Amino acid sequence: MGIAVLAMKASVIEMFLVLLLIGNSEAKEVTKKSKKPKLSVPQINCDVKAGKIINPEFIAKCPAGCQDPKYHVYGTDIYASYSSVCGAAVHSGVVDNSGGKILVRKVAGQSGYKGSYSNGIRSLSLPRWRESFIISEGKQKRGMTYPSTLEYSSPKSSTAKADETTKSYQKSTILLSTTPQPTTTTRRPATTPAEPLSTTPRLWTSLDTTTASTTTITAKLQPAGHRVRDTGFRSTAAYAGNHSITQTHTAGETGSWKPGLALLDAGSRPNEELKTRSLEPASKGDPNCKVDLSFLIDGSWSIGKRRFRIQKQFLKDISQALDIGPAGPLLGIVQFGDDPSMEFNLKTHANSRDLKAAIEKIPQKGGLSNVGRALSFVTKNFFSNANGNRGGAPNVAIVMVDGWPTDKVEEASRLARESGINIFFITIEGAVENEKQNVIEPNFVDKAVCRRNGFYSLNVLSWFSLHKIVQPLVKRVCDTNRLACSKTCLNSADIGFVIDGSSSVGTGNFRTLLQFVANLSKEFEISDTDTRIGAVQYTYEQRLEFGFDKYSTKQDILNAIKRVNYWSGGTSTGAAINYALEHLFKKSKPNKRKLMILITDGRSYDDVRIPAMAAHQNGVITYSIGIAWAAQDELEVIATHPTKDHSFFVDEFDDLYKSVPKIIQNICTEFNSQPRN
Ligand SMILES: *[C@@H]1O[C@H](CO)[C@@H](O)[C@H](O)[C@H]1NC(C)=O
Ligand SMILES: *[C@@H]1O[C@H](CO)[C@@H](O)[C@H](O)[C@H]1NC(C)=O
Repeated sequence: MGIAVLAMKASVIEMFLVLLLIGNSEAKEVTKKSKKPKLSVPQINCDVKAGKIINPEFIAKCPAGCQDPKYHVYGTDIYASYSSVCGAAVHSGVVDNSGGKILVRKVAGQSGYKGSYSNGIRSLSLPRWRESFIISEGKQKRGMTYPSTLEYSSPKSSTAKADETTKSYQKSTILLSTTPQPTTTTRRPATTPAEPLSTTPRLWTSLDTTTASTTTITAKLQPAGHRVRDTGFRSTAAYAGNHSITQTHTAGETGSWKPGLALLDAGSRPNEELKTRSLEPASKGDPNCKVDLSFLIDGSWSIGKRRFRIQKQFLKDISQALDIGPAGPLLGIVQFGDDPSMEFNLKTHANSRDLKAAIEKIPQKGGLSNVGRALSFVTKNFFSNANGNRGGAPNVAIVMVDGWPTDKVEEASRLARESGINIFFITIEGAVENEKQNVIEPNFVDKAVCRRNGFYSLNVLSWFSLHKIVQPLVKRVCDTNRLACSKTCLNSADIGFVIDGSSSVGTGNFRTLLQFVANLSKEFEISDTDTRIGAVQYTYEQRLEFGFDKYSTKQDILNAIKRVNYWSGGTSTGAAINYALEHLFKKSKPNKRKLMILITDGRSYDDVRIPAMAAHQNGVITYSIGIAWAAQDELEVIATHPTKDHSFFVDEFDDLYKSVPKIIQNICTEFNSQPRN
């Protein structure tokens, strides 16, 4: 925090100085040629993306310090509008890291952007984007006038107009606790006027005694570990056959529903408003929030009919606030009970209006709260191309659970994260002290979410305050830069280094070689669900230095690389490849990209062709790095096609460092050129 504030101060001062200087130089210019009108150049920050600025052509001034990897740039020469304007300016060489004036011109979207390393910035590849821009020197073109202030698209311009609902939510947002686990144990005070029936187990009891069949079903509905709520609502759907009882319930619910809501919202949300808005034409969607969303909603009996309806209202509010559309977020819904079922996929309803109407019609399916099973379903089936997954948009799964899940979520969540799904967890009315013993998997939220930093979990104390998290949730989900579990070239591979430890290398060079391995490893995001690193050293023989599952932090990996002992001996590269396939890559996970990086300084004693072919056939993308006496023909045989992108050669060990950026860039380019998920 402190540093950020200091940095901000520094940049404010810098800007001030820059402005002063501009002022001075411009004053001089004006006196020199007094006819030229004074041009005031708008200033933009490093993190401003071109897509945020509406003007089709403008001159702007970039501050110093935009040559930073955190300002993502996509493309080369022609950049996707998703890029930082000033980052692209540095990448293109129009300005350097000290900033300066640039001319930006918007051009049509491209079907592909190629990343490259240039002027100290590594730009990324992107399959396609709806708009691009090009950068040139910040000089006025003859006869052109440029805007003196820039027009920004506001983050929610398309929904801001009429969304009264949103406003009323914002007011109450601050009150909300977003800590993963509440310390308070007061879940639902029995006295709350919103729930007059919740304290009357009367109906439930009377049902139990009515018929024999009723009792049997009751037992099935309440297995150990499932939330038992003291309300009769859940029975309505289960005993829909008994008409008279159903009606009693419905009457009771409607009676209590309205005063409950009115009390909570203090009259700030007239329900009718949601309906009048549906006359707007279908939106293309909010382009600042292009995500593919899967909502996993709780349809279990424990939740009851009324809360199920609150859940649907919440989904409708979310759909409205998100501004669903083909150029923005898309949303599909999976309802879980005993088993999950797809209510609709990403393509079914591509605007907020249709989606809201469809949500209204979702019937509660009943059963348990098998969240783990639902997450597996989402990983396997939901995010497929056939279901409208767009590849370029981050995948997000939002799990809504009443109380706690009735099955385990850890393993299913891990697989989901490895597939690049950002899991958010919303727990509503979590277990109170005396219910904790029933929770099947303690800390299930931590085990499920994308990162345990609080960003991916929201805890809501009561279903009746669920509406308060509409805005916080939308904000988080749309903050695509923070969706850390999305698959990228840096977080989704199992990388196996195959290191030549033969006598010709020598002790000193072997250290350089390990440095090289460490420098490459450093570039990746390392954890057990992100990129994993393994290493094999070989001479005539081979040994596993460490496998993929041995270490799960970057520091541990770097330490382990340092500890590798130089072996010294012959050079059997072919056998080493076979060994790596058997001892490293066989243990790779199915949803990881397998990368082998083989480093050698000489010709192999054995044949490399058959082992290399086996690697390629097993889907192991192979990079070969040759030093000094390494044989070019062998490097090419080992490398994956096209070999010019996968084989590297340097004359000396001391030049190895030069190929690090190029190798990373090629790994990313290859990743980005392939379909996701
Ligand atoms: C429905 O419930 C009533 C009591 O409320 C009972 O008399 C009747 O037999 C029940 N009908 C069925 C079909 O279970
Ligand atoms: C590794 O990185 C360090 C620090 O950036 C650099 O000094 C060194 O030359 C690099 N070595 C290799 C072999 O990449």
